[in-house]
Amino acid sequence: MPAVVLVGAQWGDEGKGKATDLLGSRVDYVVKFNGGNNAGHTVVIGDEKYALHLLPSGILSPGVVPVIANGVVVDIDVLFEELDALIARGVDVSRLLVSGSAHVIAGYHRTIDKVTERFLGKRRIGTTGRGIGPAYADKINRVGIRMWDLFDEKILAEKVEGALDQKNHLLVKVYNRRAITVEETVEELLQHAERLKPMVTDTSLVLNRALDEGKTLLFEAGQATMLDVDHGTYPFVTSSSATAGGAVTGSGIGPTRVTGVIGVVKAYTTRVGEGPFPTELFDQWGEYLQKTGGEFGVTTGRARRCGWYDSVITRYASRVNGLTDLVLTKLDVLTGIEKIPVCVAYDVDGVRYDEMPTDQTAFHHAKPIYEELDGWWEDISNARAFADLPVNAQRYVRALEEMSGARISAIGVGPARDATIQVHDLLG
Ligand code: GDP
Ligand code: IMO
Ligand code: MG
Repeated sequence: MPAVVLVGAQWGDEGKGKATDLLGSRVDYVVKFNGGNNAGHTVVIGDEKYALHLLPSGILSPGVVPVIANGVVVDIDVLFEELDALIARGVDVSRLLVSGSAHVIAGYHRTIDKVTERFLGKRRIGTTGRGIGPAYADKINRVGIRMWDLFDEKILAEKVEGALDQKNHLLVKVYNRRAITVEETVEELLQHAERLKPMVTDTSLVLNRALDEGKTLLFEAGQATMLDVDHGTYPFVTSSSATAGGAVTGSGIGPTRVTGVIGVVKAYTTRVGEGPFPTELFDQWGEYLQKTGGEFGVTTGRARRCGWYDSVITRYASRVNGLTDLVLTKLDVLTGIEKIPVCVAYDVDGVRYDEMPTDQTAFHHAKPIYEELDGWWEDISNARAFADLPVNAQRYVRALEEMSGARISAIGVGPARDATIQVHDLLG
C-alpha cells in the first residue's frame, strides 16, 4: 500500500497544505516529520479557511490519524493553542499522536533565536523567531528535552539544568540578557504535561504496524528542498531535513517502505526571509505576483519575495528527493501575462550552469537565463480537466514538465480544495 512523501520543491509555501488536504480522504495517516511551528499552511475547505502551523494538515480530514513524528520540534503551548482553536471550530482532533522522541521548544530557544538574529545583523537568516534553530541545535548537541522527559519531573529538572548551563553564560555575558531559571522552565514545560500524556507514544512502532496492516500513509514535509539544512541554500535554510530523506529519519520507517515522492511547486517562485534567489523580481512584476498570488506569510505575515519559475531548482529538487510526481500550484495567478519568462539555466560569471551550483558563492552570482513562453487571458479557475485549459496554459505546463524532471500529476487553479486538475493518480 502507498507510503507517499510530500515535499516542497522550492523555498516553501508552495501549497503543501492544500495538496495534503486534497489526498486527505484517501489516506489513513498524515505524518509531519520535520520542522515545527515555523511552517504555515493554509487550507481552504468550502467557505472555511484554516491556518495550520505545527499540526499536520491531515488533521482536517475526518478519519485520518495525524502524527507528529520524532523529527519535529514541538512548542507545547502552540500545540494546545492550535488544537483548542480547531476544537472551537468543531474539528475532531482526538486521534492526534505525538512521538515521545520529538524534541521540545522551550522559552530559552525562542529567546536565543531572537537574540542571535539581532546579533547577526546584516548576516541574519530572517528566521521565523519560533526557536526552531536553537531547538535543533540542542538536539544535535545532545542537550535537548524530549517529550518522554516531561513525564518524570526529576529527570526533566536535571536535563533543563544541563541545557541552561551554557546558555545562561551566553545570555548574560554576551547578549546582556537576564538568566533563565530551571524552575520557570520546568513550570512552563509541565503546564500541559497531563493533557499531553495520552497522545505521546512510540510513533515509529505505530506507523510500521500501520504499514504492515496495509494502511496508506502520507508524510507531509514542512518547509522545502531549498530550505533543507543539507540540500538547501545553506546557511539561509531552516535547521531540519525537509527533503524526502527526512521522512525516513524523522519518522522511524525504513526507506524501502516509501512508494512515491510528490514535490509541490508553484508556477512561479517565492521566498520568505534572507538568502539568494536568482529569479527574484524587483520590478512591477514582482509586485504583480505578490498581489495577485496573495504572497504574504501565514506564520509571520511577512511579504514573500517573488520571481519567475526556476526550472534549475525544480530539477535539483527532483534529483535530491527522487520525485515521482509534481503538483503544480497557482497556475491561475499567471493568467493575463502576455509572455511568461521561465528560467532554464544560470549564467554564473560567464559560465552556463544547467544544474544547481551548490557552492554558495556561485549560487549568489547566478543570473537566470530565461525562455519566454506565451501566456493566456482566459480565466482558468473553473478548469477541472487538462483539456479545459487554454492551449498556451497547456503548453506552459508541458514545458515546465519537460524541464523539471518529474511528471506533473495535479495542477492547482485556485485555493479551494476542488480547484484542482488531476492528471495522474498521486497515490497510484
Ligand atoms: P504551504 O506552506 O506549502 O502549505 O503553502 P501556504 O499555505 O503557506 O501558501 C500557499 C498559498 O496558496 C495558500 O494561501 C493557499 O491557499 C494558496 N493556494 C494553494 N494552491 C493554490 C492554487 O492553485 N491557486 C491559488 N490561487 N492559490 C493556491
Ligand atoms: P512552510 O512549511 C517559507 C524560512 C524562514 C527563514 C528560514 C529559517 O509554510 O513552507 P526558521 O525559523 O525555520 O529557523 O527560519 O526558513 N522558513 C520558511 N519559509 N515557508 C516555511 O514553511 C518556512 N519555514 C521557515 O523565513 O528564511
Ligand atoms: Mg507556508
